[in-house]
Amino acid sequence: MPQSFFQWDPVRLTTHVDAMDREHQKLIEIMNRLYEKHQAKAPVHELKALVNELASWTVTHFDHEENYFDTLEYAQANVHKKIHKDLLARLGTFKAEFEKTGVLTDAFFQFLKTWLSAHIMGIDVKYSEAKKKSAA
Ligand SMILES: [Fe+2]
Ligand SMILES: [Fe+2]
Repeated sequence: MPQSFFQWDPVRLTTHVDAMDREHQKLIEIMNRLYEKHQAKAPVHELKALVNELASWTVTHFDHEENYFDTLEYAQANVHKKIHKDLLARLGTFKAEFEKTGVLTDAFFQFLKTWLSAHIMGIDVKYSEAKKKSAA
């Protein structure tokens, strides 16, 4: 069994919001499946199906997250939404490139990895701080 592309880390990756942690785990799970298929040189239509699943789940997750943090007193809400928008644009660019070439590049996987760790640990944790404040 090859090592997973990305491993969930309950300490470093938790947002302290169970629903969002579950959604992040689902995103990681799709990315891992995509990476495994890529490593296994699966046919392009299978990769395509997973890239589509990843893209649509990302849109859904960002929507859920934005709806959630809009219920908090979260000063960074607009900045966070802008970051989501930029991530979707970059994901869209990679997706379009893949659809043209049929090749998933290392840059694409690097982007996914960086996005996961940097966004969840650096940005998503901020709404958990807002959650603590709102609850206080
Ligand atoms: Fe986010
Ligand atoms: Fe997130």
